[in-house]
Amino acid sequence: MQSVVHKVMKVFLTRRIPPEGMKILTQSELVKVDRWDSDEPVSRSDLLKGVQGAHGLLCLLTDKIDAEVLDAAGSSLKVISTLSVGFDHLDLHEIKKRGIRVGYTPDVLTDATAELTVALLLATARRLPEGIEEVKNGGWSSWKPLWLCGYGLSGSTVGVIGLGRIGMAIARRLKPFGVKRLLYSGRTAKPYASELDGEFVPLDSLLADSDFVVVSCSLTNHTEGMCGRSFFSKMKNTAVFINTSRGTVVNQEDLYQALTSGQIAAAGLDVTSPEPLPPDHPLLTLKNCVILPHIGSATYDTRGVMGSLAARNLLAGIEGTAMPSELPL
Ligand code: NDP
Ligand code: DGY
Repeated sequence: MQSVVHKVMKVFLTRRIPPEGMKILTQSELVKVDRWDSDEPVSRSDLLKGVQGAHGLLCLLTDKIDAEVLDAAGSSLKVISTLSVGFDHLDLHEIKKRGIRVGYTPDVLTDATAELTVALLLATARRLPEGIEEVKNGGWSSWKPLWLCGYGLSGSTVGVIGLGRIGMAIARRLKPFGVKRLLYSGRTAKPYASELDGEFVPLDSLLADSDFVVVSCSLTNHTEGMCGRSFFSKMKNTAVFINTSRGTVVNQEDLYQALTSGQIAAAGLDVTSPEPLPPDHPLLTLKNCVILPHIGSATYDTRGVMGSLAARNLLAGIEGTAMPSELPL
């Protein structure tokens, strides 16, 4: 006789997630879904309450999952599924110690994030937000030879810091613009970089030689604060800096100095510290700094696929089967 499975496993979702993911979870016969029913982040106290007795936790990059949360969840917690490829918000040491599995969403957001990075680079280098503003505010008096000039990719040298999935996808998209040299730095040389004649170089050489410096590495103890005073001082005065990784990779005070002193030409950021950046933050006063609200993966399709992948990871963790995308711990 086939046994009837009741929804006995509690999963806690720290936010409303895309419908593609929600459907998978509500249709599951195994799990009972509790969620923070909002598009805004769950408060710490509601997270600690919501996670109690959960077998699975589906979280976002805005939720810090540390020993306190894991203790609040208790020994029932088998799986954490994050709706992101970045996992710097998870205390992996504590998670591993407790034998909890982790699911994440690599690959499915690579194209969207690379595309946004290219858009941000072009917008920053060619001063699009400034130009749009001038059209609106009457600053457009006539065509002028040097007005709103910026920097082009054709014949340039691009340096990618962290030539991983997204870094390589960015490089693939930039190369056809006529990029002459592709440099990259990171912990290890990448065989696949040969497809683009990518040159693995020390960070200092990358900074000295690049017209565009693109940061697409993961946030680690080594990369936190990596882009600071000394970093910017090695860049060309005409270089454009782009960061779509995590905000804390950059020392924002040092970036402000670099942008106002003419040490570098411009910066485009999709990620900041904190997020959201307060509207009165000094970086927002600068014309040569373009800031987006962490929208790298924000296409409807991508977020839908991320939602379903995160849901499937969660269910597999509950069932004890292979996850579509499990983070090796
Ligand atoms: P990958 O793991 O494929 O790539 C990360 C890269 O970071 C690796 O190539 C790694 O190099 C490199 N790296 C690690 N440590 C260092 C270091 N000390 N110096 C230089 N490079 C280093 O991840 P993805 O490409 O999929 O994602 C990268 C990051 O992008 C995510 O962790 C996330 O933070 C961010 N992201 C941001 C989004 C947005 O909306 N803006 C969207 C999606 C992701 P090596 O292999 O040599 O160790
Ligand atoms: C991630 O997945 O890490 C991004 O920052 C959001 O998609």
